[in-house]
Amino acid sequence: MPNLPLDACLQDLPLHAATLDMTCSGAEAIALFADNPTLPGILLLRDRQLVGLISRQHFFEAISRLYGQDLYARRSLQVFYNCNPRTPLILEAETSVATAAALTLQRPLAEAYEPIAVSFPNGSYQLLSTHDLLRAHAEIYQLTADRLREQTNRLEHLVDDLHQTQTQLIQAEKMSALGQMVAGIAHEINNPISFVYCNIAHVQKYSQDLLALVSLYQRHYPTPHGEIQEAIEEIDLEFLSVDLERTISSMHLGASRVQEIVRSLRTFSRLDEAQIKTVCLHEGLDSTLLILQNRLRAQSDRPEIRVSKQYGDIPPIECYAGQINQVFLNLLSNAIDAVSERHRRDPHLEPRIEIATSLQTRDPDAPRVVIRIADNGIGMSPEVRQKLFTPFFTTKPVGQGTGLGLAISYSIIVDKHGGRIDYQSEPGVGTAFCIELPLALSPTQSLAS
Ligand SMILES: Nc1ncnc2c1ncn2[C@@H]1O[C@H](COP(=O)(O)OP(=O)(O)OP(=O)(O)O)[C@@H](O)[C@H]1O
Ligand SMILES: [Mg+2]
Repeated sequence: MPNLPLDACLQDLPLHAATLDMTCSGAEAIALFADNPTLPGILLLRDRQLVGLISRQHFFEAISRLYGQDLYARRSLQVFYNCNPRTPLILEAETSVATAAALTLQRPLAEAYEPIAVSFPNGSYQLLSTHDLLRAHAEIYQLTADRLREQTNRLEHLVDDLHQTQTQLIQAEKMSALGQMVAGIAHEINNPISFVYCNIAHVQKYSQDLLALVSLYQRHYPTPHGEIQEAIEEIDLEFLSVDLERTISSMHLGASRVQEIVRSLRTFSRLDEAQIKTVCLHEGLDSTLLILQNRLRAQSDRPEIRVSKQYGDIPPIECYAGQINQVFLNLLSNAIDAVSERHRRDPHLEPRIEIATSLQTRDPDAPRVVIRIADNGIGMSPEVRQKLFTPFFTTKPVGQGTGLGLAISYSIIVDKHGGRIDYQSEPGVGTAFCIELPLALSPTQSLAS
């Protein structure tokens, strides 16, 4: 049977144009059946009008009975029809296969497999075997089921894609807002702190010059006027001379620390740089830790979270630096939440986070940088582990977690950078996330920017 369309009708199926006039003999019917072994029956006409039908099965049953051959072979088909009247099921050529199959099977059981007469608009008729009709029906059913499965799969993919896009949009929005705010603050602080930092050097020089001048005066005028002597004692010139130097040095230290913080904030936001950059991941990790400094400090209900760093000898890597920093922020925030929660349950716990980096050269042609972030927090149950990277999955109270951190981190590491993200976790012991990144992006990943 040719490949059928889903809306196939009877005229698309193999039909048989087999008709005999009622006046023809039974022998002619036998000959016609013999010449066409697949012929399911013969339509009987009188004056070109359809009168009835003889089916192959029924005809041969009748003539194989005792005297059947003698009785019907030499006589007209009218005689056979009179003894075995059959009213055919007549269906229009444009009836759909599904409707035809239903109508066919509604016939009494004895007639359920009789051939069907198919009528054409020009008044002619053809025969269709019930077997062919049911085969076509089964084929169309299969085709419909396949198409339905395909459509369901396509829809599922579409929903997944939509979910993914939504996730990325929300997270991108969140991160871009944070990045912009951080970059804005860094920019605002940068100028004033630069004035302070640059001028401190002058202040130091001027104050040294002034003190040197005062001591020169003291050397050449050892007995100053009483008023000057009083002022020297009042301001405690000796102490002032020593302390001014120390004060200016600590101001210098403070200003350079603020500059360092501003630099870190800018590294974190990476808004002032091209998207793909060759960067040292240690800088990214340090600037992220700086952003989180406030959360790592001791709180009213828990001690400071100790962060230990074991930075290995890793080369700079080509990546979307801002996005990699987002991943560090997500993993470190999760670790802080996990150790804080564990400390609430077990106040003796010393909350700890360990960050380690190394170069992995298992495949010497494609070395990879490995970053491991481990915590001694609450760990994860098998149920949590199962849904870990699913967008919007969170175990945190409403308003505290959106459940997007890991979903987006996965997509940044795996889809955007061709890397891997893995983890080990045990409830009540802790969790370790491991990220592997190639040293350079593949051409398609670079183009995707
Ligand atoms: N280090 C970890 N220790 C224990 N559980 C973790 C850890 N990291 C993630 N989880 C679990 O995985 C869930 C999903 O984490 P994910 O970062 O995707 O979302 P979230 O932290 O709940 O919300 P947010 O979108 O604010 O990051 C968390 O709610 C938590 O149950
Ligand atoms: Mg999170």
